[in-house]
Amino acid sequence: MHRISTLRVSPICLGGNVFGWTADPAASEAILDAFADAGGNFIDTADVYSSWVPGHRGGESETIIGGWLRHHGGRDGIVVATKVAKHPIHRGLRPANIKICLDGSRRRLGVETIDLYYAHEDDPHVPTAEWLGVFDQLVRSGAVRHYGLSNFTPARVAEVIEVATAEGLALPVAVQPQYNLVHRAEVESSGLAALCAEHHLAIVPYYGLAAGFLTGKYARGESAHGPRAARVRSFATDAGFDVVDAVVGVADELGVEPATVALAWLRQQPGVTAPIASASSVEQLPAIMAAADLKLSRSQAHRLTKASASFA
Ligand SMILES: NC(=O)c1ccc[n+]([C@@H]2O[C@H](COP(=O)([O-])OP(=O)(O)OC[C@H]3O[C@@H](n4cnc5c(N)ncnc54)[C@H](OP(=O)(O)O)[C@@H]3O)[C@@H](O)[C@H]2O)c1
Repeated sequence: MHRISTLRVSPICLGGNVFGWTADPAASEAILDAFADAGGNFIDTADVYSSWVPGHRGGESETIIGGWLRHHGGRDGIVVATKVAKHPIHRGLRPANIKICLDGSRRRLGVETIDLYYAHEDDPHVPTAEWLGVFDQLVRSGAVRHYGLSNFTPARVAEVIEVATAEGLALPVAVQPQYNLVHRAEVESSGLAALCAEHHLAIVPYYGLAAGFLTGKYARGESAHGPRAARVRSFATDAGFDVVDAVVGVADELGVEPATVALAWLRQQPGVTAPIASASSVEQLPAIMAAADLKLSRSQAHRLTKASASFA
């Protein structure tokens, strides 16, 4: 287990945007069962998941997680992170909005207290002190245990810390940026990793598998199909496939799945607490969970770092 402030979390965080989307409710519960059985306790969702599916309104993922928690006699030891600011009806970080969204998330999850509540994206239209004041109240009242920042630039993370410190408000404990072997600069060269080290912020990367691209299941020259096709195509460049080749090379050497290697590399990067990855079926989960126990040798990690240098 790793620590994010007072939270104790598994080294892999289970992504929840598939629940109610590419995994139906029964498959989602089976994935959650298998995740918990394999020692996982850290689950990531958001109020906006999965509003992009025709007929959905957002909150479908939280509802499934809430149902699963209820069916399993509560939430002992399970840490649920959810997010506010991207719900299609209540977008942004206006104080009234945050309160409405928080109530919706608590109701759907069936919990009094949300363990980790992220601002899903920055909101330039609301003064920082204003929305930070609401997050501070939520922490003090026990409605949320801690809060984090997702998709914030390093300059804005620094500003949040400065304002919170000056006003005596609760500080963020985690950031959630996109970070993987084919998307490194946002964390490594932007100053974000250094800032997180300085202020003891956990890095919880999303798209740990680059939407499935790093599992090695997409072939050079073939067009990706299915619900993730657009996202996968954005990674599927020649330079991207060179990274996949390096991942597959290390995986073959170790006799493990490429997904395991991609997540193990991420786990070994400075400041990373727990990469987020999702599975759309129970069968995909073992390769993800195996990353919790895989330690790449210095030379294996170096080969991957070198093969992906153009993304740093
Ligand atoms: N903060 C943010 O703005 C933000 C943005 C995006 C995501 N997130 C979070 O991060 C989580 C992870 O993102 P993601 O699910 O989009 O991307 P991901 O974890 O990089 O990729 C997961 C996808 O890869 C495929 N996959 C997983 N294991 C596999 C295996 N062993 N073999 C073959 N394919 C496998 C599955 O897709 P197929 O169904 O195609 O097989 C799975 O849904 C989300 O669920 C969400 O919680 C946060």
